[in-house]
Amino acid sequence: MPDDILYAETHRPQFHFTPKSNWTNDPNGLVYYRGEYHLFFQHNPTGITWGNMTWGHAISSDLVHWTQAEHALHPDELGTIFSGSAVVDWNNSAGFQTGEEKTLIAFYTSAGEDPVPFTQSIAYSNDCGRSWSKYHNNPVIEHICAQNRDPKVFWHSPTDQWIMALYLDGNDYTIYRSKDLKSWDRLCDLELPGTSECPDLFELPINGDPNDTAWVYWGANGGYILGQFDGQVFRAETEVLKAEHGPNGYAAQTWSDAPDGRLLQISWMRGGKYPAMPFNQQMSFPVELSLRTTRDGIRLCREPIAEIGRLHHQTYQWNDYALIPGENLAPATHSQLFDIRLEIEPGKARAFGIKIRGIDLRYEGGKIAFQNTEVALDPVDERLVLQLLIDRTSLEIFGNRGELSMSICYLPEAADHPLVFYAEGSPAKVISLAVHELRSAWT
Ligand code: FRU
Repeated sequence: MPDDILYAETHRPQFHFTPKSNWTNDPNGLVYYRGEYHLFFQHNPTGITWGNMTWGHAISSDLVHWTQAEHALHPDELGTIFSGSAVVDWNNSAGFQTGEEKTLIAFYTSAGEDPVPFTQSIAYSNDCGRSWSKYHNNPVIEHICAQNRDPKVFWHSPTDQWIMALYLDGNDYTIYRSKDLKSWDRLCDLELPGTSECPDLFELPINGDPNDTAWVYWGANGGYILGQFDGQVFRAETEVLKAEHGPNGYAAQTWSDAPDGRLLQISWMRGGKYPAMPFNQQMSFPVELSLRTTRDGIRLCREPIAEIGRLHHQTYQWNDYALIPGENLAPATHSQLFDIRLEIEPGKARAFGIKIRGIDLRYEGGKIAFQNTEVALDPVDERLVLQLLIDRTSLEIFGNRGELSMSICYLPEAADHPLVFYAEGSPAKVISLAVHELRSAWT
């Protein structure tokens, strides 16, 4: 593989966003406006490791194919540009609009260096995100405590106001409100034990019923609480629950104003290794969120967006197939990119699994395991439903239609076949197995 051709390098993810060069971490400023999904990202424009935090920018019309744009926000005297969010200011609440286009407004943390404290600032764009101006009266929220950061803003229509979720310190978060996006009042604080950084706050129908909703207060490691929010107070109704069970999913954020009422989220896949690559770190594949009643109660479910189908290329399909111990079922492919959908009844099989480029993804004793991560996943009516997104350096596992999600980074080991399916002890019953080879999103 020629390592000097952009986007074709050996360890370059082929359907996950990476910057052309240098470091990225959190996704920022996710907003949809006029047919374009914006993805800003924590970026070091001059280095392969974390530092000089700047908002990089990429644009997509389908959340699959991304075009990197000019960097949007650069460090200034208030600090480097830490994580935050963006909205469309439909009613010109902030008064920044100059022409026909609605204004996009970005909220970010000005990460001052001692003695300058961490504060919250805003910037706006009147040309669909192509260029940005910082508000002359920044910061809009003065320092509260410690390294308070990561503002996530949305419009709360029942109370006609903007709401901001903000991280304070330790496991502490807070909520602010504003009418004009410039002056902000603190509403209430809350704690998410075990969780810190990068809040998100959103409402979702339960089991698709718009008259029965719950609010989700989310923290960076995929810990969340369910509750109710009336524009004043967040009332928690659960302990901290966990939606991300992999070792590498972090700092997820949802898109503002995504069309068709969808709630779409993308994360930083923290901690991947990309030897000799011009870039460092990657985003997850976007997921769609829903709240569903499961055996454990109401849970946030994460499923990869249907747009992955745009990359489907060749499909290998098995139906009603007994996977027999000793048999190594290997589709005749040498692709490195897959969307795999498997419905399987483990039955009396002691274990079943898939060797993915030499690394074992194994289901045994009610647990799914890959490398050092092991997570419980029980069949529903004896059946497991699995979807796997496999890229060159990442594996995303979705169990029982998104009840379980795991984001994992890996580096492939040498192997003749990229995929080998096996069972141990007794046959496992494959109800259906579709192995979709994927095209690269960069070509
Ligand atoms: C999360 C985080 C944020 C911060 C940003 C800095 O990964 O630590 O809290 O704003 O990264 O890059």
